[in-house]
Amino acid sequence: MIPDIVRDFCGHAPAGLALDIACGTGAVSLYLANTGFQVDAVDISDVALAQFAKRHPGIRVICTDLDVFDLTVAHYSLIVNLRYLNRRLFPQIIRALKPGGLLIFETFMHASNKALDRGFKREYLLEANELRDAFATLDILHYAETDSGCEDTPARLASLVGKKP
Ligand SMILES: C[S@@+](CC[C@H](N)C(=O)[O-])C[C@H]1O[C@@H](n2cnc3c(N)ncnc32)[C@H](O)[C@@H]1O
Repeated sequence: MIPDIVRDFCGHAPAGLALDIACGTGAVSLYLANTGFQVDAVDISDVALAQFAKRHPGIRVICTDLDVFDLTVAHYSLIVNLRYLNRRLFPQIIRALKPGGLLIFETFMHASNKALDRGFKREYLLEANELRDAFATLDILHYAETDSGCEDTPARLASLVGKKP
């Protein structure tokens, strides 16, 4: 399933190269490639990457550990980071965007409501306003903290879309 935030905002990015951070089984990478982007799809799981590596010539898969991998500076028109949190990458993401490049970021937050608690350690969850503060140097097109309407995986989500000036 392609998250609404990707469908709604990827068209705001200039054409070119996209980076899908922690791409998983690649549904979003494939969507972006079919939309016309060249895509660097990064994940630590070669099992996941192998599932879609050959399905689109516009996708380059990079199997690496994002705890140590550094993003190329001023390289991407679009960076997508969904359901994955690695705070080390926050400043790198800003640097890796080209001027005018777009960031789409959506992941889980700490939820005081137990019904929305996915059982993750708190360090793997965003705090209130953390995402907006981390990317305050971007022009923020969209920011929201919401309870997911998805009944099988209830969660609190922070969502941000920002453009590099
Ligand atoms: C919850 S999945 C999200 C996948 C995809 N972004 C999505 O929204 O469907 C988290 C992904 O992060 C990847 N991941 C976890 N730790 C990682 C690391 N240190 N380096 C690279 N990828 C990692 C996992 O292999 C997994 O595919």
